[in-house]
Amino acid sequence: MKLTSFPIIQQHTRRSFMTKGLRAGLLCGMAPYVKAATPTKYRTALIGCGWWGMNILREAMAADRAKVVGLSDVYERPLLVSQDEVNQLTGDTPNIYKDYRELLKKERPEIVIIATPDHWHALPCIDALKMGAHVYVEKPTSHTINESRSMLHAAEAANRAVQVGLHRRIGPHHRSGMDFLRSGQVGKIGMVKMFITGGGSGPESPSPHGKAPTGMDWDMWCGPAPLRPYCQKLTPGGWRNFLDYANGTLGDWGVHWLDQLLWWTEEKYPKSIYSTGGRPISGPAVFSNEMGSTTDAPDTQTVTYDFESFTAIWEHRKYGGSAQEKHRLGAYFYGTKGVFHMGWRDGWTFHPKDKSKREIHEDPQFDNERDGHNITPLWKDFLDAADNGGSTVANMEVAHRSSVLPMLGMISYKLGRSIQWDGSSESFPRDSEAQALLSRNYRKPWSYPNL
Ligand SMILES: NC(=O)c1ccc[n+]([C@@H]2O[C@H](COP(=O)([O-])OP(=O)(O)OC[C@H]3O[C@@H](n4cnc5c(N)ncnc54)[C@H](O)[C@@H]3O)[C@@H](O)[C@H]2O)c1
Repeated sequence: MKLTSFPIIQQHTRRSFMTKGLRAGLLCGMAPYVKAATPTKYRTALIGCGWWGMNILREAMAADRAKVVGLSDVYERPLLVSQDEVNQLTGDTPNIYKDYRELLKKERPEIVIIATPDHWHALPCIDALKMGAHVYVEKPTSHTINESRSMLHAAEAANRAVQVGLHRRIGPHHRSGMDFLRSGQVGKIGMVKMFITGGGSGPESPSPHGKAPTGMDWDMWCGPAPLRPYCQKLTPGGWRNFLDYANGTLGDWGVHWLDQLLWWTEEKYPKSIYSTGGRPISGPAVFSNEMGSTTDAPDTQTVTYDFESFTAIWEHRKYGGSAQEKHRLGAYFYGTKGVFHMGWRDGWTFHPKDKSKREIHEDPQFDNERDGHNITPLWKDFLDAADNGGSTVANMEVAHRSSVLPMLGMISYKLGRSIQWDGSSESFPRDSEAQALLSRNYRKPWSYPNL
């Protein structure tokens, strides 16, 4: 469905909303958009105009290589706000669509950015690649392992630039930290622990079910995933903690740190995985017509990944953070010469074993201080690959392997036992129960991608 006309009054609301957002961005250090004359502009489209999608689109506009031709969202409000912002920044008025398939067909974009919730990454990504577009898709690649595998196969067949939003692959302190780890100064590393702690503090109350807001196509929002009743906790953003649509904190945050792990090691996958956890603080998940819904992802989870030459552990708890904690998230690499911490806003730090040696530390540098990311160089890397061929730092192969790790953790968590993984065939030999969780049933009329 293509949206065409809107009453003037709505446009006023849109403009003032956008102006506030833009001003906040500028105050927080976001680079102002400067239009410069450049010969080549890619016909660019965004699918999923929420918080992060617009962060990426702003980078695309700031790089001045994008003519934004189309925007798609199942909810009219972000669509209109985004259309207005694009118009303010570039003078272009992209067409807006509630159905991304129509956008792809009508606009034939050369670059497609996908920043929908995780259950909605695979199909638009594969469709855009098949159409011949370069694709920037958000992390994690997908919601189930076989979707991600199909995305990888689609990327291989399309031979187009693909960047997945694992921006920590290009952040300056992550790069120098990796050099430090590889320099041997941490010694031989036998264990890596990745973690995030803190947040909510008590039992979770359900939100009532109700009608989706006017202008939101709720059936399309759920798409191939189960059609749950709408509740306010789900969107925007809250879908991360509903297992029908995402993989909880492990899928959302874990993928960034598990990606750092795979960047560091030469091993490609673990051989066995064991996860445990639950909701000891949030309480049992609620899903009932009378009471409504709580989230259902674990508030407490550990995953042990056995690699050939080291052990890796993921740990999250959404409580119990302490002001005294030196590092609240990141990855500890434990070596024979000390402990190296790769962090986010706290940069990286090496704590030597030898007391006579001084701690070594590097601060982070962000292009966007407010959201703490380095999308600017990630986008440039993507454009370089689109212009000249060649690969990107977070290409589909790299991102597929990193995204598989949280999904493996969730399979073990759901089964309540350890699982043995054959990474070369991406299967669980002689384990039909685990094998069944590599995919899931799609709700009609959507078909599970089997490339
Ligand atoms: N790389 C990072 O550091 C980073 C940070 C934040 C978010 N993300 C990723 O970005 C994605 C979006 O996250 P968010 O926080 O912006 O979520 P959000 O809920 O704020 O926005 C998602 C938007 O997608 C829309 N949508 C849902 N189904 C759609 C469909 N079929 N077609 C078009 N639009 C659809 C929703 O209406 C919503 O406006 C997620 O995959 C998330 O993991 C990445």
